[in-house]
Amino acid sequence: MLTDNRNVPLIIIVEDDYDHAELMKTSLHGAAEEYCLKIAASLHDARVTIEQHPPDIILTDYRLPDGMGSELVSTVNGLCPVILLTSQGNEQVAVNAMKAGAQDYVVKTSAVFAGISRIVQRGLREWALIQDQKRAKEEFHRIERHLLHVQKLESLGTMSGGIAHDFNNLLQAVLGNLELSLSKLPEDAPARNFICQAFNAAERAARLSKMMLAYSGRGFLNNGELNLTDLIEKNANISAAVISQNILFNLNLNRGLPLILADADQIQQVIMALLINSSESITTANGSIDLSTGVQDFDKKSLNNSRLEEKLAAGRYVWLEVSDSGCGMDVETRNKMFDPFFTTKFTGRGLGMSAVHGLIRSHKGAIMVDSSPGRGTTIRLLFPIINMPNYRVISDVEKE
Ligand SMILES: Nc1ncnc2c1ncn2[C@@H]1O[C@H](COP(=O)(O)OP(=O)(O)OP(=O)(O)O)[C@@H](O)[C@H]1O
Ligand SMILES: [Mg+2]
Repeated sequence: MLTDNRNVPLIIIVEDDYDHAELMKTSLHGAAEEYCLKIAASLHDARVTIEQHPPDIILTDYRLPDGMGSELVSTVNGLCPVILLTSQGNEQVAVNAMKAGAQDYVVKTSAVFAGISRIVQRGLREWALIQDQKRAKEEFHRIERHLLHVQKLESLGTMSGGIAHDFNNLLQAVLGNLELSLSKLPEDAPARNFICQAFNAAERAARLSKMMLAYSGRGFLNNGELNLTDLIEKNANISAAVISQNILFNLNLNRGLPLILADADQIQQVIMALLINSSESITTANGSIDLSTGVQDFDKKSLNNSRLEEKLAAGRYVWLEVSDSGCGMDVETRNKMFDPFFTTKFTGRGLGMSAVHGLIRSHKGAIMVDSSPGRGTTIRLLFPIINMPNYRVISDVEKE
């Protein structure tokens, strides 16, 4: 049955033979299913109609006065199926039709005109199947790419963790011996200066190894009960020192925070990495950085946005947020910001955020990033509350 109701499939028939078009129209009128119908008599008319009424399916004559019906495949550009109708069926026509990207090709006979509704139904069904397959394939490729990325990060983590672990031990031996040498040398020994320089360099190297260890999730956690607000207040001066003087630094701290289980030194390292990045992202004269804490219920959907692989179960979490009015990040930077050694800075090493990633993973937390170019960046970290029932990580199967 034909109707003007736009909730039913819209068919465009492109046919320059008036009688053929009328036969199909009559047949669709008598069909049990409901359709909207538009008829065009040329390629040009068809393009205008498609523009005005995006169709669900097109049935087009193979040869039209101003070109070939198959040209409509590129006009619709994957929007809907195009079925070619031809008066002389031969293999070459079929090959040409399929090559042009038509979904099907049908030889015009009176039986075809009478059963055109069946052809439309079949066309729509096959189209839906093709779209499903396409989506499944895209999803498969997305997961495959994601898996490769995760595997790459994991092997990088294993390698850097292994190296960092050995280096850290060796550096502790170097530092210990340098310290001993300094203690044995008289205050005015000329060698003191050289040993001090060596000591400083070894200390910097040890810090670097610790960051790599943190990234690999193999760093040592000295966990204790921690109130995030207290930690931030205690270290407010150290935090403010890493922020450029011209930037306004605001603290919005929640005084009633529940305790979390965390390594205070490492959380401070995380806060510093975030603050340094925020400060470095502000190049204008008067920017601002907000450091906030809070506690809130989060649903599964928002927790699935975490940038860590292990997603948290819905529930109440303590959060820490660093928000800046800096340059923000485009999609590419946002995607790569946690990759070790990824940096967009001249002097950057690209280890800050990968260490944050590793440290928050060791704390069984979550990381949310909201950033776009010119609109600043907000990074929110979530921590499980001690003794809360949601103090567990959900498995892949449970994820949506
Ligand atoms: N707040 C932010 N605003 C804009 N870009 C950011 C922000 N935080 C991170 N980024 C982007 O993510 C990249 C990686 O950050 P990360 O802290 O890991 O490395 P880095 O700051 O470049 O070097 P490093 O911290 O090792 O000195 C940065 O180079 C930057 O492009
Ligand atoms: Mg950084």
